Amino acid sequence: MLKQVLYSSTANTDITMRDVLEIIRVSHNRNSKSGLTGGLLFLDGYFYQLLEGIPSDVDAAMQRIQRDWRHHDVHVRRQQRVTSPVFTDDWMALRSDAQIPTEVLQEYHYQPGMPAERYQADDLFAFLIACFENELHQQMVH
Ligand SMILES: Cc1cc2nc3c(=O)[nH]c(=O)nc-3n(C[C@H](O)[C@H](O)[C@H](O)COP(=O)(O)O)c2cc1C
Repeated sequence: MLKQVLYSSTANTDITMRDVLEIIRVSHNRNSKSGLTGGLLFLDGYFYQLLEGIPSDVDAAMQRIQRDWRHHDVHVRRQQRVTSPVFTDDWMALRSDAQIPTEVLQEYHYQPGMPAERYQADDLFAFLIACFENELHQQMVH
């Protein structure tokens, strides 16, 4: 069984796109070594990340991620065991502001931070998946 963690966090206000690309570079490197996959959304100064893989490796990555100065208020919104990953083909996919279609934002009644009082974990999960839809679709047809 694999473990799948979905969290949201608030990016440090000093963060630039260059920092985010550096996060992805390191994540590709580290995640490929332990077979972790997932997707990271960077939207309006908030991160949303789905991380999936062997439970002990997911936990180890989450410990490093939680300590990272580039964000704070890391809030695990959902964690569960799954038989197969959503992201089969990507050590850490990235989507950020302009890449997310307005229709997706509207359909999921997007609000910055997707606060837990208003958005259930399953809704946040569905929103994240929708933001990556084209990419995930391509993975399926390969
Ligand atoms: C939003 C965010 C997402 C991250 N995602 C990952 C990830 O998927 N995998 C990973 O190994 N590190 C990820 N990191 C980076 C880790 O926090 C950490 O810097 C990196 O794993 C290197 O750790 P080390 O310096 O202890 O070797 C992420 C950091 C942030 C801020």
